[in-house]
Amino acid sequence: MEKHRSAFLEYARSFFSGDPEKDRYMQLKVDHTFRVCSHADTLAAEEGELHAPALGRAVSLAALYHDVGRFEQLKRWNTFSDALSCNHGLLGAGIIKKQGFLDEEDREVRQFVIAAVAVHNRFSLPAALRGDLFPVVAALRDADKVDILRIMAGQLGPGSAADNTMLLHLEDAPGVCSPAILKALREKRMARYMDMRTFDDFRLLLCTWLFELRFAASVRAIRENGCFNGILDGFTGAPEVKAEAAAVVKSRLLAPPYAANTGKFLRTGRVLTKECCYIFPHSIDVKASK
Ligand SMILES: [Fe+2]
Repeated sequence: MEKHRSAFLEYARSFFSGDPEKDRYMQLKVDHTFRVCSHADTLAAEEGELHAPALGRAVSLAALYHDVGRFEQLKRWNTFSDALSCNHGLLGAGIIKKQGFLDEEDREVRQFVIAAVAVHNRFSLPAALRGDLFPVVAALRDADKVDILRIMAGQLGPGSAADNTMLLHLEDAPGVCSPAILKALREKRMARYMDMRTFDDFRLLLCTWLFELRFAASVRAIRENGCFNGILDGFTGAPEVKAEAAAVVKSRLLAPPYAANTGKFLRTGRVLTKECCYIFPHSIDVKASK
């Protein structure tokens, strides 16, 4: 992996321009990448679904290269918003091929990594996703979310200096929530980026990510880092909406099924399966994810 880390860093550093404002965002993506790698390695070590050597290696490499498209995106469009620029997952998959980052890897690992990077930022996964690719993609998406939540807690907490690029150019409109985001929260499904208009929308959207997390270790990391304290404390909308969001967070992080000890929710060694969907029928569209 050391060779890959060096290759990634060399590529990332080629985008540093000496402009502190832009380089700050480049560095942020480098730091984010290594934190995603760290959580992905935890998942690969803890989760039985990923114990096959090819899958574990694919998860580690997918984490390392998952946002490789961000550097080009930021350089060309000066934004992290895919809607305002390009699909950074697809861009990254193309860059991995062009740069030959995986040329020395086994064909299967190469295919897993390129596919996982290409779809890591999709709202839902393609129906045709190969069954054995699913845990790799799920681990990457979990690891990415765990770190983004931590970063956004710093951006969206009370009194934080909101950064326009980090907050995807959303509007600072205290107390305003978009109906589509609120609807997703109430229907216990993931909200869409395209429906966000305001900072509070972003706060609620992040709450809805808890409906999509697949692995127990990810839930544990989020519970332990306390990122939702900042996200919820920063909410400026109606107190009853804040209470709804807090209830969602609590139920996903603390309340049953852990307390009920059903052993079926995001059990270590399992990705979310049909069985788990029975317990949380809104948490995942099996057809779209398998
Ligand atoms: Fe990404």
